[in-house]
Amino acid sequence: MRHLIDPADFTLEETLRLMDLADRIHDDPAAYRDVALRRRLATLFYEPSTRTRLSFEAAMLNLGGQVIGFPDAGVSSAAKGETVADTIRIVSCYADIAAMRHPKEGAPARAARYSGIPVINAGDGGHSHPTQTLLDMMTIRRRKGTLDGLTIGFCGDLKFGRTVHSLIKSLARCEGMRFVLISPEELRVPDYIIEEVLGPRGIPFAEVRSLEQALPELDILYMTRVQRERFFNEEDYVRLKNSYILTAEKMALARPDMAVLHPLPRVNEISLAVDSDPRAAYFEQAHNGVFMRMALIMTLLGLKDPKTGEVAFPC
Ligand code: NCD
Repeated sequence: MRHLIDPADFTLEETLRLMDLADRIHDDPAAYRDVALRRRLATLFYEPSTRTRLSFEAAMLNLGGQVIGFPDAGVSSAAKGETVADTIRIVSCYADIAAMRHPKEGAPARAARYSGIPVINAGDGGHSHPTQTLLDMMTIRRRKGTLDGLTIGFCGDLKFGRTVHSLIKSLARCEGMRFVLISPEELRVPDYIIEEVLGPRGIPFAEVRSLEQALPELDILYMTRVQRERFFNEEDYVRLKNSYILTAEKMALARPDMAVLHPLPRVNEISLAVDSDPRAAYFEQAHNGVFMRMALIMTLLGLKDPKTGEVAFPC
């Protein structure tokens, strides 16, 4: 049995196979509507979510499966002091697979150790968000036709943004990547990303302050929200929250084939006028997320693709 806790839990080869399956589902979702009949997904969400939880649930329902779970720690036994280790032991009796979001870094990894069913990390604190990474990569590949040789700009809260950490980790395995890390000094990527991910692989990267200066060279711009809930004080948040706002005027500096990604929710870092620009790919990301999560659930449960008669890879 395998879990998805960190993007590196799947090799690049496995990740690409999963994306191939998600693309096949995207092109013909009706062919997959009975694949997970009588299987059950548990969504265990200890932190707010719209897209991630609902797209996991939609994914399981699209596969003909069922869903149980809780959307908030306050309505689960966590409020009485139950540990994630005990909770997952219990949930293993009720469901075939679980997706867990938790404010504490490492909570889904701990749950996986005690689990009788595959556990998917749906976001743990400021650490990691591997399923967002899968759908981000799917969207980049569908837009650019490749995952190699791209210059990718990450902009905003690179310190607390778990989607940024996971995506850099996973893309660092592709060929010929360049990263431009655009943030205020206080919100730079954590040192481990540079020391353990980019440095050892000799991946070219630059840490810069100016979005305007970086824009013309980017193939992808990955915007992020300043992560208010992870700040220690409100003053710092208020000072930094408007550091970057992508406007239609700034988009004029970018390449005609650049794609703008954002994991959402957006606060005000992308103005509404950008939504109608064909380079805006953030709503497409949310759409792709359902197909990606269908592919992931199928693969972790060992369910065969009815189109190929095979699993994406053995789990
Ligand atoms: C992200 C998250 O939860 O980390 N949202 C998401 O899952 N799409 C990004 C964010 O909250 O800013």
